[in-house]
Parts: sequence; C-alpha cells; structure tokens
Amino acid sequence: MAYRRAILALLVLAGGIFTALITNDGAATPSVEQYYSSVESRLGYWLLLGNARHCGYWPAGILWPFPIGRALRAMEEKLYQRLDLPAGAKVLDAGAGSGVVASYMAKGGLVVQGIDLTPMHVQDAQRVIKARGLSSDQITVRQGDYHDLSDVDSASLDAVYTMETFVHADDPLKVLKNFRRILRSGGVLVLHEADFHWDSEVLQEVLRLSHCQNTLKEGTYESLLEEAGFTNITVDDYTDNVLPLWRLFGILGSVPYDLMRLIGQEKRFTNVMAGVEAYRHWGQGRYISVRATNP
Ligand SMILES: C[S@@+](CC[C@H](N)C(=O)[O-])C[C@H]1O[C@@H](n2cnc3c(N)ncnc32)[C@H](O)[C@@H]1O
Repeated sequence: MAYRRAILALLVLAGGIFTALITNDGAATPSVEQYYSSVESRLGYWLLLGNARHCGYWPAGILWPFPIGRALRAMEEKLYQRLDLPAGAKVLDAGAGSGVVASYMAKGGLVVQGIDLTPMHVQDAQRVIKARGLSSDQITVRQGDYHDLSDVDSASLDAVYTMETFVHADDPLKVLKNFRRILRSGGVLVLHEADFHWDSEVLQEVLRLSHCQNTLKEGTYESLLEEAGFTNITVDDYTDNVLPLWRLFGILGSVPYDLMRLIGQEKRFTNVMAGVEAYRHWGQGRYISVRATNP
C-alpha cells in the first residue's frame, strides 16, 4: 500500500512540475487566489504539511524535523495558549485556509468562525470540519476577505487571530482597524506572522511572487497596531523554533532550484524558490507571535 502511495505521489509530482512549467511564467504578480491555486502550492502543502499552511514549532536547536505533524500541532497549541480564552469564547480565524487551525481551536472549546478568500480552501475546510466530527455550533468557515468584515457585528467577538495570512494583506492598517471594530472591549488579537528586514532583490521577488508585497518590516507591527488603536502589545520571537521546517525546505529544494536557475525557470516554482532563498538568507526575517488588546 505504501509503495502505491509513493508511486501516486511521484506521478502527481511529475504532473505538477509539468503543469507549473506550462502555466506559470513567473512574470505577473499573482493574486492570493492564483498563488494558492497553483499546482505547486496545492501539491506542496498537501504532500509536506497535510494541507496545513503554517510553520511547525520545534524546541530551539532541534535538527530532525520529523514528525512534522507534531510540530504543526505544537504551533497551533502556542496560538491557543497566546489567545488564553475560556471555553465558549467567540473567535474569528481570519485566513482559515483548510480549517486545520480553526478545528484545533474548536476542539479546545472555542467557538470559531473562519473566513478565507480562496474558495478551494473553504471547500477543504468544510471537509476537514466534517471529518473531525465538529458541529456548526462549534465552527463554521465561509468565503470572505478580511479587508471587508462589514457582515460581522461590531464588538461581537472575544478574539481574532491570524496564522500566516496577514503577510498577504494589501492594506494592513485597514485590516487591523477591521479586527478592532469587531472585537469587544478587552478582546484579544493574536497574529502568528513574519516580518522582514530583507533587502536582497531575490527575496523581494519571492514576496512579490507569493503576493506578500506589503509584508511588514521588522518592528512595524507595534506602531501599526498602536495606530489602529490596540494596546498591551507583546511580541514573542519564534524564529529559532520554525527553522527546522525551513532547513528541510532549503535542503529538499536546493538541487531542483539550482537546476531551474540554470535554465532561467526558477520563478515558475515560487514555493521552492521561497523555501531555498529563505533558508539561504536565514536571519533576514523573523517569525513572530504578536498579541494585542482592544482597550
Ligand atoms: C498560509 S495560508 C494559512 C492558512 C491557515 N491559517 C493555516 O495556518 O493553515 C494563508 C491563507 O490566507 C488566505 N487569505 C489571504 N488573504 C486573505 C484575505 N484578504 N482574506 C481572507 N483570507 C485570505 C489564503 O487564501 C490562505 O488560505
């Protein structure tokens, strides 16, 4: 059975590489939906992360990243702990992806509404919720854009969180103001995201190709959150804790990436490029957990 799965994965991978070569020329800046709907993204997240789309959390200094699933759950637990909410608290998962994180929060007793821009992810999320036996009283996921939360009542939620999606925001300040409006007084915002002090051209290109053009520069989360009216801002740095995954991406992707570069085709494989270049430039960005309160 295992070898059949491996052969199937290899066939799907070969098909994916072929499709990426003929469909993505790396020239245009993709929309969020185009980036996530690419064959490369779909295959990569499925094969490597079981359709979770976030980093794992490892003890600092660990070299062996397996099993990855355990580290993914550890990152979800970190977020759950940062939220620090009683059972029954109402939360928004903004950019819920395939609902993996939202399901973890719902299993922990939170009442979760998730939104995501990418229709395919919303369908996945609905499958994941069903497979985990969660009810619509515990969790719902629908299509939506966190730049427009006009259908969510003001002051109606105890918390909002993002797991690796705020980096895609076209207008980060507007999004933070939206989050603040729907939070009750004393409500909590937790963002598990990246910030950068990347200056190299190749890394700017990685940001463009993954629709992260407005990812915040290091140190600017605090000022932007203050501008949006948040208080009690704390930042925890998990950069060392996510390194094992990026080292794995860097090592796995290195040879294919350099071969593609030789023939000038590396931009067709955004995620391979991002994995290898981020690892080769390690230290030029951080993975942070930001927590703030609506006064
Ligand atoms: C890296 S994935 C993270 C998914 C999920 N939070 C997880 O950890 O598995 C980023 C997700 O954010 C979604 N997204 C990006 N921009 C969005 C927006 N403006 N509104 C809602 N969702 C958005 C994407 O469609 C994608 O599913």
